[in-house]
Amino acid sequence: MPSTKTSTILTGDRPTGPLHLGHYFGTLANRVRLQREGGDLFVLVADYQVLTDRDVADRLPEHVEGLVADYLSVGIDPDRATIFRHSAVPALNQLMLPFLSLVSVGELRRNPTVKDEISVSGQATVSGLMFTYPVHQAADILFCKADLVPVGRDQLPHQEIARLVARRFNERYGPVFPVPDALLSDAPLLLGTDGRKMSKSRGNAIALSAGPDEVARLVKRAKTDAEREITYEPETRPEVSNLVRIAALCQDRDPHAVAAEIGSGGAAALKKTVVDSVNEFLRPIRARRAGLDRGELRRVLDRGNERANEVAGRTLAEVRAAMAMG
Ligand code: TRP
Repeated sequence: MPSTKTSTILTGDRPTGPLHLGHYFGTLANRVRLQREGGDLFVLVADYQVLTDRDVADRLPEHVEGLVADYLSVGIDPDRATIFRHSAVPALNQLMLPFLSLVSVGELRRNPTVKDEISVSGQATVSGLMFTYPVHQAADILFCKADLVPVGRDQLPHQEIARLVARRFNERYGPVFPVPDALLSDAPLLLGTDGRKMSKSRGNAIALSAGPDEVARLVKRAKTDAEREITYEPETRPEVSNLVRIAALCQDRDPHAVAAEIGSGGAAALKKTVVDSVNEFLRPIRARRAGLDRGELRRVLDRGNERANEVAGRTLAEVRAAMAMG
């Protein structure tokens, strides 16, 4: 008999700036879809995690509010989702200690995403939080017994640690946690307008909150190549293909068809198509954002924090009981 249990979905973002198109097609679209299908959705504003690659969390209140606005504007239903933040749920930190005892220093050191973040952060020293935050992230995922975690590809090493912690905890202390699966989107990775990874901090990202002028400005300075005929060939023409891909994702069409339609129109026609498709795609998102006010954002977060605390408190009690610390 098929299981009737609804899935529990957890995912989150660091409040370091506005979410962009890469986030949308990489994970936000999956969150909205899973919620529409009846899943119990938890969305985390990962504020402690901001401190992994920088000394202070800059403009935190603004970024936290901005994330909540991004979530609601893409269609996450605040009446059914639990939107909450790390710093409001102390039980997450309490779960982290026993979880740390379940992983080795070698396993933490080998994490390729952490290695990559260390190399790009440019910090003179590497903090203990940098090496251990994937275990905190395991607590993010396991406290609500999530079974599905929609994330970008770069998060897979962290997901492995969450799965490892769940398995080892269950082996050592008895069955408490489901082993959560990552859910990758089938949309290919989006590059920024400079041809490098789309990233809030690189100034190459089209934010979901960008207005039409900003979209035009970013696309205008995007790299292309000298060939007039527009084609979709990611291997040999990465920049042009990336622009085609952005337009295709926004139009929900096949990139080859989008490229063929532009044909010999060259870079100018390609850019016009991208600007128009992005603006059309953002239209309902902008409309929803315009209807939000700060009071509502705060209420959504307060309610989410409260529910996350209840759930985390229950899980912590189970963990302590399983460890004979209750
Ligand atoms: N590390 C994630 C990122 O940088 C954010 C995050 C924190 C997260 N906790 C999580 C993602 C739990 C998924 C599940 O994007």
